[in-house]
Amino acid sequence: MLDVNAVTRQFPALQQTVNDQRLVYLDSAATTQKPQCVIDAISRYYSQENANVHRGSHSLTAHATSQFESARETVADFIHADSSKEIIWTRGATEALNLIAQTYARNTLQTGDEILVGEMEHHANIVPWQIVAEQTGAKVVKVPMTPDCQFDLAAFESLLSSRTKLVAIAHITNVTGTRQPIEQVISRAHQVGAVVVVDGAQGIVHEKVDVQALDADFYVFSGHKLYAPAGIGVLYGKLNLLEAMPPWHGGGKMVEKVSFNGTTYSELPGKFEAGTPNVAGAIALETAIKWYQEFTPQDVATHIHSLVDKAQRRLNQIEDVRILGYQEHASVISFVIDGVHHQDIATLLDQQGIAVRAGHHCAHPLMDALNVKGTVRASFAIYNTDNDVERFIQAVEKAVDML
Ligand code: ALA
Repeated sequence: MLDVNAVTRQFPALQQTVNDQRLVYLDSAATTQKPQCVIDAISRYYSQENANVHRGSHSLTAHATSQFESARETVADFIHADSSKEIIWTRGATEALNLIAQTYARNTLQTGDEILVGEMEHHANIVPWQIVAEQTGAKVVKVPMTPDCQFDLAAFESLLSSRTKLVAIAHITNVTGTRQPIEQVISRAHQVGAVVVVDGAQGIVHEKVDVQALDADFYVFSGHKLYAPAGIGVLYGKLNLLEAMPPWHGGGKMVEKVSFNGTTYSELPGKFEAGTPNVAGAIALETAIKWYQEFTPQDVATHIHSLVDKAQRRLNQIEDVRILGYQEHASVISFVIDGVHHQDIATLLDQQGIAVRAGHHCAHPLMDALNVKGTVRASFAIYNTDNDVERFIQAVEKAVDML
């Protein structure tokens, strides 16, 4: 059983008051708060362990390198990669997607090739494909969503063809929390010879991921949504794909030998890690993963789903509130009050100490499909309590009364 109050106590940011009330943090899909052990890992690194990695010849650099590479092994185990060489550090999911677009896709796509991208995707999983399409003459093709905010598998089937070279899909979407059918998409895409890029920014937090069982070609995520700091992220790629890809950024560490007559590149994973990396971030991500692994995934999921279920039932009882694309077993809930700007609702909630996100959530095509300019999104994490839901609902009721 999850002792939620004991979990919450580990998060210093959740102990504060905002606008004179105890903070209720419902913006974890944007970024999670950090447990004390993660904050301590960063502090320890900079207090005692700071050194550059894979360089120098003193004890601090040897220790930092060993921790940095241990973090890579931990990530490889966490997502069940075949080898830690398949784990490339990036700044986050966005950078990882751009890396794939500018190395794998730019090097393989040709005029007339098609990239299938879902309508509910985050801009980070749309725009890099549009950029590389312009560079190569390939075409981005939208896979529509259904009216209830599901990935339209039938439409996907009809769009798949020998022209399909790449499919980009989020594991879990960020506005409605839709769990997309990545298993079927990967399997069908492979039958036409296409490569599948899975944006796991939201999915990695809410499901146990096994990249080998999924047969994902690429899977990317950010640390900061997984209780780790911002500025560290992961690109997983199958070894044969990563090996065939040209480097992206040039600089130190990604080279084997530099000469004005020609340069040779490092082996994986160094080939994609030019410059001094975010060592503290990688170490803190390892700490966050080990911390998170102390909980049973089913307990965490049951807890979060029960909060979202309760929030949905209570929101539905408030006249004027309209929930958009509600998904059972999601960790987020998006809603609007027709005729009221989403930011006004968020401001009224903030005044009562409730942090939510309002806006388009970097998903313009989804907003267009829903025919709204934006939504208010409440997102739930391991540290939220029943009392948080109660405070949230009371705050929405009060906001509705005031509007
Ligand atoms: N992608 C993050 C969100 O959905 C920032 O809030």
